Amino acid sequence: MSNKVTLTRFIIEQQREWPDASGTFTLLLNNIVTACKQIAHKVSRGQLIGVLGSAGSENVQGEVQKKLDIITHDIMVNQLIWTGHLAGMASEEIDDVITIPAHYTKGKYLVMFDPLDGSSNIDVNLAVGTIFSVLRCREGIEPTLDDFLAKGAEQVCAGFVLYGPSTMLILTTGQGVNGFTLDQDIGEFMLTHPNMRIPEETGEFAINMSNHRFWEAPVQRYIDECLQGKEGVRGKDFNMRWVASFVADVYRILNRGGVFLYPLDNRDPTKPAKLRIMYEANPMAFIIEQAGGMCTTGYERVLDIKPSGVHQRVPVILGSKNEVERIIRYHQDA
Ligand code: F6P
Ligand code: MN
Repeated sequence: MSNKVTLTRFIIEQQREWPDASGTFTLLLNNIVTACKQIAHKVSRGQLIGVLGSAGSENVQGEVQKKLDIITHDIMVNQLIWTGHLAGMASEEIDDVITIPAHYTKGKYLVMFDPLDGSSNIDVNLAVGTIFSVLRCREGIEPTLDDFLAKGAEQVCAGFVLYGPSTMLILTTGQGVNGFTLDQDIGEFMLTHPNMRIPEETGEFAINMSNHRFWEAPVQRYIDECLQGKEGVRGKDFNMRWVASFVADVYRILNRGGVFLYPLDNRDPTKPAKLRIMYEANPMAFIIEQAGGMCTTGYERVLDIKPSGVHQRVPVILGSKNEVERIIRYHQDA
């Protein structure tokens, strides 16, 4: 018999350490997890249930929506909207924030999510994921846009579920990072990766090299030095990985270290960065910092940025501490 701790037990035991906790947060997390189990099921069934391919529409970012982008968004909304724990939601797939209809009770949390990150990888059967971020809100009110636009440092919880060879949940509530693996036979997430820590040293970087000519000088300098390997100033060879699924690249870094960059670039002046702060950069920054890593734009800590819109984009450089510190130094030198 497995003596692994279930996610439910883990969360309830954590909750007991906060005598004033009402249990609402535990219930909310439970609903998020139920939605992710449903998504895992759809993703794994793939074309057997006809969910692959384009939906023939575009989201607010001007990106072509996949059928699964819309299906997974709907699953998240349907699992969360009725619970009474939320004051509102925001999703990558919807322009405006999502309000709670009057016939449901309003709660004290805001949830922001990317229902299916890396969705360009779905049709080629590579890993994708769901990213979420939870903020506290004034209770029982209709939240304003400003309630959503809190700094990442104010998140109470962040996590992501990776739909890979195994389905995994990575979670932080500000007391370190824990990884859970979905046991498909019993439908429970089990604690398999307690207290994840990112090695400070690494010889691995992740970046979309095809954008090299669009980057700023400090990023070009850093990557060029990595490419010079043993013969260059770094005096060692580097390895490169790019899954093009943020969730998968971050998961690898949490396990064996590395640095991920989606930096500022001048390809399109209307989109100087790619990743969105509220439901991609902030939750990942919280997780990475809680695992001993760092997350910066090159100029400032991502968690300290006051967002100006729910779909705001931000440069992201994250991972092993020593490499991220070096990249920050290169920005200061420039
Ligand atoms: O959500 C944006 C995203 O799909 C990330 O998951 C991923 O890291 C990145 O974009 C991939 O970008 P590109 O298409 O430039 O490789
Ligand atoms: Mn995404």
